[in-house]
Amino acid sequence: MTTPATISQLGEHTGSRVEITGWLYGKRRGGKIIFLEVRDGTGICQCVVEAGTPDAFDLASGLNRESSIRLQGTVRDDSRSEGGYEISVDALEVVHAGEEYPITPKAHGVDFLMSHRHLWLRSRRPHAILRIRHTIIRSIRDFFDSRGFTLVDTPILTQGAGEDEQTLFSVDYFDEDAFLTQTGQLHLESACMALRKVYCFGPTFRAEKSKTRRHLTEFWMVEPEIAFADLDDLLELAEDLVCAIVEAVLAKNTRDLETLGRDIEPLQRIRKPFRRMTYDEAAALLRSTETRDWMLDTLQENRRQLEEAEAALAQLEADAAEARKAWQQEKIRNEMAAVRETIHDLRQEVENAPRHLELAQSFAWGKDLGGSDETILANRIDQPLFVTHYPAAAKAFYMKRDPHNDKVVLNMDLLAPEGYGEIIGGSQREDHLETLAKAIEAKGLNPEDYGWYMDLRRYGSVPHGGFGLGIERTLTWICGLKHVRETIPFPRTMGRIFP
Ligand code: 4AD
Ligand code: MG
Repeated sequence: MTTPATISQLGEHTGSRVEITGWLYGKRRGGKIIFLEVRDGTGICQCVVEAGTPDAFDLASGLNRESSIRLQGTVRDDSRSEGGYEISVDALEVVHAGEEYPITPKAHGVDFLMSHRHLWLRSRRPHAILRIRHTIIRSIRDFFDSRGFTLVDTPILTQGAGEDEQTLFSVDYFDEDAFLTQTGQLHLESACMALRKVYCFGPTFRAEKSKTRRHLTEFWMVEPEIAFADLDDLLELAEDLVCAIVEAVLAKNTRDLETLGRDIEPLQRIRKPFRRMTYDEAAALLRSTETRDWMLDTLQENRRQLEEAEAALAQLEADAAEARKAWQQEKIRNEMAAVRETIHDLRQEVENAPRHLELAQSFAWGKDLGGSDETILANRIDQPLFVTHYPAAAKAFYMKRDPHNDKVVLNMDLLAPEGYGEIIGGSQREDHLETLAKAIEAKGLNPEDYGWYMDLRRYGSVPHGGFGLGIERTLTWICGLKHVRETIPFPRTMGRIFP
């Protein structure tokens, strides 16, 4: 008897004959045996075809990578193989013999891979990231659903800016001006006056004209909004949310984190309470001599690592010249690509260090924290860090002024540790009609666009607030990636809207 099975369930079938459908991920020949790496969307499994297996052996030898296949064979325990099982194939059928696959095991540049993103998704690394993304999204929904929040979908086509006007994407809306939404917040504030605790979860858009490793033009954000809440309530909620996300990933995705080479120890250490510091304290820390010394030490350490990596590359080049076998050369080529990437990153850090040091040491009150400032703060503290009470001038019009100091607002950013920086931004909202009207005017926004939003301050206004957590920034941190672009299936950035 043959049972249809998925690779993730092979453990339930040891010793029996199963049928697997999937794609040929890789192939290796060892004498009279062909080892097929087969993937079926649930996992990857080594399948062994011996010479003499009728038809199967010849079919297998001619197949290109990513050809789709159906095979039958017996499941064996094999602790050395990926997933712990192996299949001895006795029948193989080709569903579609694929053309020569453009992505090969040799190292490709990121640009090439991104241009083949529609195919690259079939590889181990994107599998791991997409599975973790799924866990994160599910844990967020579970978190809010179990705490009595109602999901409210906010519109994507909007009028008026929710955040920085400079980053609006315009849409021709039947001859009227409209924009792709930057945040669901303003509409969500209206929903929280109806249902008290609400959240929205959807795509948001920002015409970011900078090419940084933190910015996408289309990203997903979850935004809770609560009536009768103050800044402290928001800090606690954000802390619990981030802990729940990390816990879920550690419970479900340790294998995926391993695939990505993520050291999970820093994630295991995440627990509340997170560190809290005001903007003033953060600014003082940036300007401090301790930070200067720390940065100089880091620079020295980076220089040392750079020298080490350059020596390693020279050694690999020598090894490559000596290597006889094709597989040896391929292995060395892959290692060289990884070392080159490390060298590239280290060079950049060493190059930027003087500028970043200067920026931090001369940090002036009133500015928003820059990317490098966040990196410094997020490196100096090994837990997520809340920075609160920013200067009003640096932040959005809707943030509530601190009643004790009207130069600052009741806001918070959460910086992820290990240098990752902001993953959450939020605040208590200005709930006073006249103060809000003045803030809209002071930021040069058109009051007409915000008429309905002002209404919320006319009919039973209450203290309220919320925040937004960026899914891709959070994933970048949790997966330990250098760049945000790999965390979304099809990234959109200033230089890319394809495929
Ligand atoms: O700090 P931001 O701009 O806050 C808001 O949009 C508020 N209206 C949210 C609220 O209070 N309901 O953005 C929130 C988060 C950031 O912390 C970051 O994680 C993510 O959204 N984010 C981006 N992620 C990727 N690419 C970009 N260009 C992003 N801009 C913001
Ligand atoms: Mg922000």
